[in-house]
Amino acid sequence: MEQGKQLTCTLALAVFTAVLGSLQFGYSIGVINAPQKVIEKHYSRSLGVWAGRASAAVSVNSTYEEELSNEGRHPTVVMYWSLSVAIFSIGGMLSSFLVGFIADLRGRVKGMLMINVLAVAAGLLMALCRVWKPHIMVISGRAVMGFYCGLTSGLVPMYIGEIAPKAYRGALGALHQLAIVIGILISQIIGLDIILGNDDMWPLLLGLSGAPAVLQSFLLPLCPESPRYLYIVQGKEQEARKSLIHLKGAYDATPDLEEMRREKEKADREPRISVLSLMCSSVYRQQLLVALMMHISQQFSGINAIFYYSTNIFTRVGVNQPVYTTIGVGVVNTIFTLVSVGLVDKAGRRTLILVGLGGMCCCAVAMTVGIKFQGDYPWMSYVSMSGIFLFVSFFEIGPGPIPWFIVAELFSQGPRPAAIALAGCCNWTSNFFIGMTFQYIQYWLDCYVFVLFAVLLLGFTVFTYFRVPETKGKSFEEIAAVFHKGRKRLAQSPDVTTELEQLKNSTDA
Ligand code: GLC
Repeated sequence: MEQGKQLTCTLALAVFTAVLGSLQFGYSIGVINAPQKVIEKHYSRSLGVWAGRASAAVSVNSTYEEELSNEGRHPTVVMYWSLSVAIFSIGGMLSSFLVGFIADLRGRVKGMLMINVLAVAAGLLMALCRVWKPHIMVISGRAVMGFYCGLTSGLVPMYIGEIAPKAYRGALGALHQLAIVIGILISQIIGLDIILGNDDMWPLLLGLSGAPAVLQSFLLPLCPESPRYLYIVQGKEQEARKSLIHLKGAYDATPDLEEMRREKEKADREPRISVLSLMCSSVYRQQLLVALMMHISQQFSGINAIFYYSTNIFTRVGVNQPVYTTIGVGVVNTIFTLVSVGLVDKAGRRTLILVGLGGMCCCAVAMTVGIKFQGDYPWMSYVSMSGIFLFVSFFEIGPGPIPWFIVAELFSQGPRPAAIALAGCCNWTSNFFIGMTFQYIQYWLDCYVFVLFAVLLLGFTVFTYFRVPETKGKSFEEIAAVFHKGRKRLAQSPDVTTELEQLKNSTDA
């Protein structure tokens, strides 16, 4: 293999170490699902409430469990449970704005190392939740873990993108999403009641969310810093050369350094646009609209309704062993992420997103029909089940992995960090909204809950068809030109020149 293009052990170690952060992200998404009933029981006990009664002493006995399953759950418990699920996204929402700051503060590797303190603290809060009020401990732990995940979901793709040789950038970048889905799967398996999802072990199950951070902290000091950070941000050419050779083996690093020098020159010329100026700018409005819509459609597709609440949903569609079915979803999820990794550079981003969103829309309709008629025709539960499995498969084909990396493709060096921060925040805000409201929406809409997602998915499909350009195989200049066409008239107007000047002045100031 050509020198400088081989996958060295150092590169493999660096990528493996980085995606331990993504694994932790996925674990935290999935871990809250299977042990819902067990944890709610402990919340009820600690709050002194159970379904139908308030302020009563609760003992863990069959009468209580019967009440819990027959009469539903106490509204206070539902509220605390929803908060435990959704607070994770509030943490992510807040921290996603800090990704650029942390990444540039001491470098990508030190950044990932520093934030591991958060993951370990969050793991301890949850593991020790019996020490004090479990609902408070779990909610605090989930908030801190969300904050950590908001940072890691930006730092990991950034570090991998910067250290990966061009030839493998797509495949290695997609390992972020692959590690997320593997994290989800692991949490689903060890969340089984015969493993850790039971009365005695559930605090350990939640606490283990922090475990990959411990392993990652031992491995990160062995990983080279990103050469792009060393050269483009810090101007340290010799250190960048050393890092390149460390990552790629002995080879002539001059062409790579030359490419970075050009990128540095370009970056120095372009204004570094702030989040606020990007939001107010009409110059980048089209790109920003597409980037944000990609993330909104990823979350409002309803995917996390399945990942956070599938055990509950499967019970509704008449499955006897919902947690095992949830694991089946995790397996399908992982398989189709692998399929997407193989397809994304062949079929193209736009096509995969269109197929994914359109397919999910049809599945949402099938799920609704299945749930509605399962009382009349028992075989309808198979329709709902197949709908759920296909829903997840279509998601991983396109709407799952693509939004994470398409934002970087849509923007040039100057506005890119601000665009990534905004898109990340948009993703986490939507994630929060779904986590917090799904149970209530399900309660109000009952069997029609997925009609809501079907309508949204149809809208997202139409938007993608008309507004999202294909970025596969295109250079940044070519992608920019696609948007440029739409605003050609504007671009010729002196107002745009003035606005670009103002953007530059505001960021220089
Ligand atoms: C994406 C989403 C995340 C979701 C996951 C499911 O990474 O951002 O919210 O849970 O896919 O695979």
